Amino acid sequence: MRYLVTGCAGFIGSSLSQALLAEGHSVIGIDSFTPYYDVRLKEGNLRDLDENPRFEFRQQDVRDLTSDDMSEISTVFHLAAQPGVRASWGEFDKYIDNNLDATHHLAELARIARSFRIVFASSSSVYGDQQDYPTVEGSELKPRSPYGVTKLAGEALLRAYAENHGVSTAALRFFTVYGPKQRPDMAIQRLISTALFDGTFELYGDGTARRDFTFVGDVVEACIRAAKVDLPSTFVPINVGGSGDTSMNRVVEIIEKITDRRIDIRRMESQKGDVKRTGADASLAMHILGWKSTINIEEGIRRQVEHVDSTRDAGVARRSHFVN
Ligand code: UGA
Repeated sequence: MRYLVTGCAGFIGSSLSQALLAEGHSVIGIDSFTPYYDVRLKEGNLRDLDENPRFEFRQQDVRDLTSDDMSEISTVFHLAAQPGVRASWGEFDKYIDNNLDATHHLAELARIARSFRIVFASSSSVYGDQQDYPTVEGSELKPRSPYGVTKLAGEALLRAYAENHGVSTAALRFFTVYGPKQRPDMAIQRLISTALFDGTFELYGDGTARRDFTFVGDVVEACIRAAKVDLPSTFVPINVGGSGDTSMNRVVEIIEKITDRRIDIRRMESQKGDVKRTGADASLAMHILGWKSTINIEEGIRRQVEHVDSTRDAGVARRSHFVN
């Protein structure tokens, strides 16, 4: 099969591209190297892929893709995005451009071509704070951040294209993805960097915030399944999470135990846009994709620590928690 991965130099995009190549597929990867974080990390992510002759990289914006680019593509994994829950106050044009306009462009190409599926990286941030946990897909959607609003709008756009034009779409709501190559602004990567390389971790809130952390390998597996299965005839977003929610205080404990280091914590006010808790009901993922998460938080963090430790000589890991 021939796949297109947008955001192929990012954390999830590069991991997915690697898995697709390992399965023997051909991958066209595009990435525009937006400077949300140190682009040297993205170049590093690409290095692992570049050696494979079935991988073709193009540095370009999603919105510059043409119908010709889509010939022979069976699925587009649309992972390119402007990330950042807390960073999304202000500079909203970047979120509109990269999360909404780019998704619209792809949907238009799909409407015209009628030949490829879109697997869309949506987010647990569409839920906001909920009454009931674990959260099912049909819950009221109340994103608390501008970022979450654009992810929800991306879903809504794809729903319109699916229902009016039959565009085949799987919208996967990822729950705080972590693991090797995690973005440097995210909590677990910052904590591991702080533990291994010193510095101070700024903890937002009192540490009781809970996240349904989902290991990147599991997320990659969900994406690949979403490209292959028969989807329901109506558009349904699917939760990709469900390994159980963990408090930030517990995450700190786990990382201190695995690294055998004390982490210097500076307690800060909770940040606007953050929710108190996320937790996925993953029954639909099992029903539609035959998927459930397999890696627990201790094992996932152990693998991420190993990865940060093994790349420390590259020099980039040491810097990574200072970026952004
Ligand atoms: C993550 C991703 O960053 C989003 O792109 C994604 O869409 C979202 O998951 C999702 O699941 O939808 P978030 O849950 O905020 O967002 O993930 P982290 O940045 O790892 O933060 C987790 C927790 O750690 C939050 O409570 C946050 O406030 C806290 N945190 C984060 C800190 O206390 N200090 C930090 O330096 C960073």
